[in-house]
Amino acid sequence: MDNTPPASLRTWMLPMLSDAYHPTSANAASAALWQRARRVAPMGAQGDGKYYAPYPHFIARAGGAHLWDADGNHFIDYWNGAGPCVLGHGDATVCDAVAGVSAARGQLFSAPNDLEVELAETLRRIIPCAEMSVFLNAGSDILCMAMRVARAATGRDLLVKFAGSYHGWHDDFLFNISSYDGPPDEHGRYAPIAESAGLPPGPAQSIRVLDYNDLDAARALFAAEGDRIAAIVVEPVMHGPATGCIAPHPGFLAGLRALCAAHGSLLIFDEILTGFRHGLGGAQERLDVTPDLAAFGKALSNGYPIAALCGPARLIGQMSPAGRSFLSGTYNGNVVSVAAALATIARLQDGSVFRHIEALGARLAGGLDAAFQSRGVTARASCFGSMVAIHCSDRRLDSFGDVMRHHDPAVSPKLMAQLFEQGVYLKPRRVLRFAISAAHDEDDIDRTVALVDRHFAAEAGA
Ligand SMILES: Cc1ncc(COP(=O)(O)O)c(C=O)c1O
Repeated sequence: MDNTPPASLRTWMLPMLSDAYHPTSANAASAALWQRARRVAPMGAQGDGKYYAPYPHFIARAGGAHLWDADGNHFIDYWNGAGPCVLGHGDATVCDAVAGVSAARGQLFSAPNDLEVELAETLRRIIPCAEMSVFLNAGSDILCMAMRVARAATGRDLLVKFAGSYHGWHDDFLFNISSYDGPPDEHGRYAPIAESAGLPPGPAQSIRVLDYNDLDAARALFAAEGDRIAAIVVEPVMHGPATGCIAPHPGFLAGLRALCAAHGSLLIFDEILTGFRHGLGGAQERLDVTPDLAAFGKALSNGYPIAALCGPARLIGQMSPAGRSFLSGTYNGNVVSVAAALATIARLQDGSVFRHIEALGARLAGGLDAAFQSRGVTARASCFGSMVAIHCSDRRLDSFGDVMRHHDPAVSPKLMAQLFEQGVYLKPRRVLRFAISAAHDEDDIDRTVALVDRHFAAEAGA
């Protein structure tokens, strides 16, 4: 069997496996762990396996906005556990709630409990589309469930997604676009490329991939195949691994909303990264477009495994045991994760966390742009609230296609490596992304900007 990753996956991954970072004896403990890990795990890492070649830094602990690795090296953390820890690592309110519920009530009943009712009621109060909710454990599970419900409700097979967005590891979603230069065909279609070996043939037949912010292509696609489209899945603000932060054009989400309504398809917002980060009611409230279904996870619980699918009773009610779409899960609604979510929402309730992290986002973006300008670097900070990305281009990038055409991928690996050596933790990605938490402060941001400035000053002098 050929296990070579498909070409599109290689083009995505390779810039991440940067060889610009050269480890030293200060990393002896990580190096030793790597020798053990590589024998028992693929790439020597569980979960997110992308790291600086030749081996990862193993993280020993996290607190607030900071990480310490196995050798005691300290980092300001902008990876943020892949985005969830909006309050910072080890937030006292959340930890106390988790410890309290575990000690007093145990961890898992796999049976109805009062806390899961309270969480569903809370979501109904704060999220526009959340008349009902079901809880699973991860974003991937929720998006998979969302598609099952969409297909059951519409009796159709096609799924529309946008290039560069990650919606989890299930077969349905692991497709991207193959051509970064050419336009789509007259029906708005690109040829989808699978991003994993081992997919069955079905999903390739039922996926349509569009480029973000291209409403004309979406209209063309619906004109051609609207009666087969079960759902569009879209990040209301794109934070994909290859794109960084890309905001929707005015009217883009409303245009998708109108297309779905006109053709009897469902609009699904993937709010796994935008939810509980861009506002208590999600990006849907902030951008004033209400989807049929929405997926939440990550910042919902500040780092505990829980995700929610929210929507109207007519759709969520289609899931078992009430409806015909099968849903089950030993850990669904476990009191520990639900308690973490309730405590996180309580902390976010008065809006002060959002004000703090968004002010820091603006400070970081402004500082980065000033550094790029003063050092003559062709780059710009792309910021939405508390998420900031560096697009190495002289123009605004509005889609995955834009990033592939206009972002210079050579800049990120060197900058990443330099920041890493100076104690700033990011993940190697085509576009560098910073996720800010309530535990960051102005000193963290200013130190980061100063390091970026110093890097480009050195590059200019080199
Ligand atoms: C937008 C988005 N959707 C879905 C997922 C999948 O979530 P999980 O990793 O919890 O399965 C992710 C994960 O990064 C994500 O960023």
